[in-house]
Amino acid sequence: MTHDALENLSHEDRSFPPSAEFAAQANGTAELYAAAKADRLGFWAEQAEKFVSWDTPFTEVLDWSNPPFARWFGDGELNLAYNCVDRHVEAGYGDQVAIHWVGEPADDTRAITYADLQADVNRLANALTELGVGKGDVVAIYLPMIPEAVAAMLACARLGAPHSVVFGGFSAEALRSRIDDAQAKVVITADGGYRRGKPSALKPIVDEALELGAETIQSVIVVQRTGQDVGWVEGRDHWWHELVASQSPEHAYTPHNAEDTLFILYTSGTTGKPKGIKHTSGGYLTQAAYTFNNVFDIKPDTDVYWCTADVGWVTGHSYIVYGPLANRATQVMYEGTPDTPHKGRLWEIVQEYGVTILYTAPTLIRTMMKWGREIPAGYDLSSLRLLGSVGEPINPEAWMWYRKVIGGDRCPIVDTWWQTETGAIMISPLPGVTATKPGSAQVALPGIAVDVLDDQGVAVPDGHGGYLVLTEPWPAMLRSIWGDDQRFVDTYWARFPGQYFAGDGAKKDEDGDLWLLGRVDDVMNVSGHRISTTEVESALVSHEAVAEAAVVGAADEMTGQGIVAFVILRSHAAADPDIVTHLRNHVAKEIGPIAKPRQILVVAELPKTRSGKIMRRLLRDVAENREVGDVSTLADSSVMDFIKTGLSGGGE
Ligand code: WT7
Repeated sequence: MTHDALENLSHEDRSFPPSAEFAAQANGTAELYAAAKADRLGFWAEQAEKFVSWDTPFTEVLDWSNPPFARWFGDGELNLAYNCVDRHVEAGYGDQVAIHWVGEPADDTRAITYADLQADVNRLANALTELGVGKGDVVAIYLPMIPEAVAAMLACARLGAPHSVVFGGFSAEALRSRIDDAQAKVVITADGGYRRGKPSALKPIVDEALELGAETIQSVIVVQRTGQDVGWVEGRDHWWHELVASQSPEHAYTPHNAEDTLFILYTSGTTGKPKGIKHTSGGYLTQAAYTFNNVFDIKPDTDVYWCTADVGWVTGHSYIVYGPLANRATQVMYEGTPDTPHKGRLWEIVQEYGVTILYTAPTLIRTMMKWGREIPAGYDLSSLRLLGSVGEPINPEAWMWYRKVIGGDRCPIVDTWWQTETGAIMISPLPGVTATKPGSAQVALPGIAVDVLDDQGVAVPDGHGGYLVLTEPWPAMLRSIWGDDQRFVDTYWARFPGQYFAGDGAKKDEDGDLWLLGRVDDVMNVSGHRISTTEVESALVSHEAVAEAAVVGAADEMTGQGIVAFVILRSHAAADPDIVTHLRNHVAKEIGPIAKPRQILVVAELPKTRSGKIMRRLLRDVAENREVGDVSTLADSSVMDFIKTGLSGGGE
């Protein structure tokens, strides 16, 4: 092999087998691999029976007669709210804490038991019914990290009304486009939430979205969180505490088909229009619960689990709501930022609640590394017994720091690879089985089939890199893109026919372990959030000063990738000395602060192919201060010289 689709450069020899004590008590054992290998569908049927309570048992495991449209457990019926809440109360665990909620302001905490959660979910389900929400009606959820977000998702699940959670950091325009795409009928929001010590408003953003469009919205339910002033439209807007408190805490659920839609979650694609990833019920819950049990080794009577993600991302859906609650876990949920009111806040929470399992992102670990090990050293972290990582490749240096400084050299680390589209974890160590390697997500979980292919679609041998594919359907797989089956087929199933192309590069090391190498397309991964270059470009070009824009993700020590924009200004704008600041703020307004470019470089030309396609590869070279690569397909090869000399004065 002369040319790998992705280079295999780094080497890692360190290996950390689980301790004998950990292995002896672990939920996930080596037998799982053998069982799944012997009979993959039989294995999934067993997990579906073990982790899920069915109102109508399924008789068929997988229908793959019309690929890539899968049906899992297709004639089974179940209710996800019942599975996540009611059955635990019925079994006598009503008094067990489901959520230790920690608000950002000091001493603002709530303990919510499974019985409390049941009453909250049922009251809201009754309230939604009163507002005319029924099966199949989409409900948009735009909330901060408060327990009402969990109750709202479960109330929708109970009714069979698909939820579409929109991350609270998104702008009015982003919210509007997601509401319009899904034709949502109701929005559940709050007056605001606490971020970095201050109340930050949400309701005005909803009001703005509803002015911009979103005409399908009939009702807005508003949680009172901060008490700040809000605008009000009589008849449309309802306070949660008024609407919900008066409802009965009883609600008789209806079972739903395993293939009924549970939720839509929007994620960036390579074109500007976000993709509504559609997930259904039975297969999704099976894999979310199975992975949560085996990867996080949950012991519901003793563990305190904490996932630092926001419910607005898929990690929050699968590993704050559905996976943990189906397993009757007790978890911590934190509203705020890690440095408020001080940089030790996370470790203070671990100490106070005796957190045993922590699931976080590499970007947070790198931030903690920057702040220094003396901060976590000031707290008792000895309750921790297992650590997880998700969202982007974790570099070996950060992995080792996580293991030593946070995990006291004693906790296994599970580096979990998956996507919004996969719904649940696909590649990860099993903590009681796998000898972990710093920086590698290692092998597919039992029941999951992956491979790494070259440009021709041929599996690469160990020691080589290429494109990561999933070679068999899996229970939590996306069923389509909301309203756009063709885009679903084209985006994921066309590059390598019959196989799901994840869009990630990966390599197999000499032992066959997998190393994830980031996105191969034009989607950037900033702090674990995928952001499409096209969306940021569109936002820049929507500013009257900008003629053209090209955006690339450049390697960034803190955030994985940072957004670097190259813009050509309209002639009248060139004189504005603050143009870069204006443009950064404009992007934040259009898409959200997360998409604010790290750097904006004003240039006279952009490198393009003859067909007019911007050559981002060359811009990435510039953004990462590399020697500019092959320019032979450029329409005008002098353009790169222009850009480089033009930049010697620096960017922002
Ligand atoms: C993309 C999916 C899955 C929840 C959070 C992100 C990257 C995710 C890992 C990992 C290397 C990872 C991939 C993937 N990614 N986990 N453990 N190692 N890369 O969900 O927004 O759908 O992003 O995140 O590039 O394709 P998402």
